[in-house]
Amino acid sequence: MNPPARKVLIVDDDPVSLKVLLHLLKSVDYQVERAMSGNDAWKVLKDFSPDLILLDILMPDIDGYELCRELKNNSMYRHIPVIFITSANKTDEIVKGFDAGAVDYITKPINKAEILARVGTHLELKHSRDQITDTNRDLLQEVENRRQAEEKFKALSETAFEAVLFLKDGLVIEANKAAYNLFGLQENKNEFHKIDTFVDLSGKKLLDKITKHADNGIWELEFYRNDKSRFYGLIQHQHFQYKNEMINVLAIRDITKQKEHEKDILNAILETQENERKRFSKDLHDGLGALLSTLKIYVGLLQKENKGYDEKQDLLAEMKSTIKQAIDSTRSIANNLMPSILTEYGFIRALKSFADAMNKTESVKIEFSYPERLQRLDNNTETHIYRIVLELINNTLKHAGAGNIFIKVYSKDNHLFIDYKDDGKGFDFQDAYTKRGGGQGLKNIFSRINFLNGKGTYFMKDDFLHFHMEIPVRKV
Ligand SMILES: Nc1ncnc2c1ncn2[C@@H]1O[C@H](COP(=O)(O)OP(=O)(O)OP(=O)(O)O)[C@@H](O)[C@H]1O
Ligand SMILES: [Mg+2]
Repeated sequence: MNPPARKVLIVDDDPVSLKVLLHLLKSVDYQVERAMSGNDAWKVLKDFSPDLILLDILMPDIDGYELCRELKNNSMYRHIPVIFITSANKTDEIVKGFDAGAVDYITKPINKAEILARVGTHLELKHSRDQITDTNRDLLQEVENRRQAEEKFKALSETAFEAVLFLKDGLVIEANKAAYNLFGLQENKNEFHKIDTFVDLSGKKLLDKITKHADNGIWELEFYRNDKSRFYGLIQHQHFQYKNEMINVLAIRDITKQKEHEKDILNAILETQENERKRFSKDLHDGLGALLSTLKIYVGLLQKENKGYDEKQDLLAEMKSTIKQAIDSTRSIANNLMPSILTEYGFIRALKSFADAMNKTESVKIEFSYPERLQRLDNNTETHIYRIVLELINNTLKHAGAGNIFIKVYSKDNHLFIDYKDDGKGFDFQDAYTKRGGGQGLKNIFSRINFLNGKGTYFMKDDFLHFHMEIPVRKV
């Protein structure tokens, strides 16, 4: 593709020289426009933007000097080189022309070779200048883009809640405010240096591995603050190349609280299991164990030969009754571990029978409402729901001093909802839940709900303590 033709504007009131110049420049494939006066020139300039202007000095309305000065004062046209056309050897005209802003002059009568040489030279100069200007503009734009990107990035990392560290060869080269705060350092002292002074040996190894091998991903790691206190960090690592060097970006989130919470829940589960085991062993020991010992004594007595028929019959009857008690006791232990009504008829029937039994004791009144038809859920889910509601009731009985409990079970859009409320004294859930050395019940409730991917909340409303829970359910 040919480069676009260079454009020249000739401004001359003399039709003859205008014609000559026009032919001459067109003969070398310039795109040429002409104007016969200064005013005319302004009109042409509206639609034609020349790379060069050939300007006659002597013209009737606006003379060449004035037009040239006006052009140079106008930011739209200032960059267009102007060549004067003067009468030969008029030094004062030439000087005045340069003063007005011209870059060169040609003399009349017209010398074709000279004109082509000068016009050509200045067009080339203009072209080179334009290119330099373009390149400069691109460079400036590039610098501006980078500056903006850097600023955006800085703002982002400064406002991030997470600590962000930039590392090069294990040295911290940049860190945001959150990072200084997290590590207990002072920003103005630039106290970050080597990141591995903030981890132990195994942490150092992990960080080395991540950063050297450019492993992008997420890890958990224990860190030391400046004052040697510790925290758990969730690290996210990204790397990028900058000027042939690898830069590691670490975003660190303090997850100490979550870790402690997980530990609490685990402890709660373990402790509950331990308590269950204790109760189970006590039931076995005191109930079944005692009955079996009695049976053993009866068998010993039977073995003695001096027993008469009637005596033996009596003993056998006693044994039969003891065996029956042992069977009952076994059933009740098993039932306690997993009520048979729960596995056979589901949590609704199990809760209903529990509520009925409670209502008979008249210690509290339980109003239990549930849908007539509710599909059975899988055993595991039903057991969790049953245990949750039982703990809710237990807590009301133990702590609330309530007279009434209302339980409503309903389902909608593949979710099961339970609304529970009691008219007792209520309590501050956050306090009770986070209290050290507190009970296990609430923790168990929430770990079961978590396990079921559900949600649960305690709140006070209309003088009632409410608990609302919902879980997604799959029908079986
Ligand atoms: N319905 C309620 N009314 C009033 N206070 C309650 C109620 N439910 C729970 N609480 C308060 O929350 C605390 C924590 O309950 P949680 O079930 O975790 O422990 P606990 O019942 O004391 O012991 P555990 O359940 O381990 O036998 C209770 O000690 C009690 O103060
Ligand atoms: Mg409890």
